[in-house]
Amino acid sequence: MGMRLLKPHEPLCEVDPSRYKAETSLKERLLVEDHSYYFHGGDATFTAQWDVLELVTTDLALHYPEHFQLQRVGDAWHWLNSLSGLTTTFHFGDPATLPCEPLDWIGRQAQDDLVLLSADATATFVGGHLCFANGWAISDRLGKSFIEIHQRTPPATMASVESGARFLQNLKPGRSYWRMSWNFKLSDQMDMTTKHKPAYKADFARRAPELTAEDVGDSVFIRIERQTFTRLLRSQNLLFGIHTYNSSVAEEAADPRRARSILDVLRAAPQDVKDYKAITPIETALLSFLEERASS
Ligand code: HEM
Repeated sequence: MGMRLLKPHEPLCEVDPSRYKAETSLKERLLVEDHSYYFHGGDATFTAQWDVLELVTTDLALHYPEHFQLQRVGDAWHWLNSLSGLTTTFHFGDPATLPCEPLDWIGRQAQDDLVLLSADATATFVGGHLCFANGWAISDRLGKSFIEIHQRTPPATMASVESGARFLQNLKPGRSYWRMSWNFKLSDQMDMTTKHKPAYKADFARRAPELTAEDVGDSVFIRIERQTFTRLLRSQNLLFGIHTYNSSVAEEAADPRRARSILDVLRAAPQDVKDYKAITPIETALLSFLEERASS
């Protein structure tokens, strides 16, 4: 699973100031264009939504005081986000004092996707902000349990998925955890939700067979998800945070030690995982490029 405890100095929602404005503006645009495709809330999730708002505002203010400030006087909260130029005064617990639902409000200010799962053992997807998902969307997974969501994952990964289910059942409030997941894509587009799949597949089918060791480094992007897991205090729901990072293989492999690490991961990946992640058609070019960089 690669699960690690989040240490006190490590933020729940990482802020990358060089990308913050672009990514939060993109979220805003997507939500204006197709709100219900990227956000699902509603009354049943309100306790959990306020939990998330409290957790994320407190965490951002603690780890990035130069960008975020939170003042609390009883239920009267004052929030300053200097990266977005946003000042908000609201009453905690009263949705009428915010411009939109609590999770929608704080989700627009985090680079992470924020996904809510039910409190019971099924860990069912019940709501959240999901703008930058890789190959899935609210419309195709809402209402599904953790195990149902992972039904299409390759057999070689099932042990890790089953450990994940047990891990989530046993997760207690007060300690967040994190893990990484990785992928290779022929695009660094942030929004890779389900509706973009047909266009991506067509582009991949056209470009992948042409890739060579010379151009693969600049054409292929490593898509890393920093995933966080938290049991929320009042609602007992689970919060699944996903911060997506993209960088070209050439950029990452500029350091021979990194090129070596990527090579080791690729060589160790089971065949069904490489097929699932669509690495197989670009594998030969990728391995030649990385071998050359690792030995330079
Ligand atoms: C608890 C720890 C978790 C583990 C160990 C885990 C493991 C995995 C693995 C091994 C895969 C497939 C290969 C890969 O992309 O690496 C995967 C895919 C996926 N995971 Fe997770 N996961 C976890 C949590 C979650 C959560 C909380 C959600 C959201 C509800 C989620 C949603 C997905 C989705 C949508 C896919 C793609 C499935 C598809 O292609 O149909 N995962 N996960």
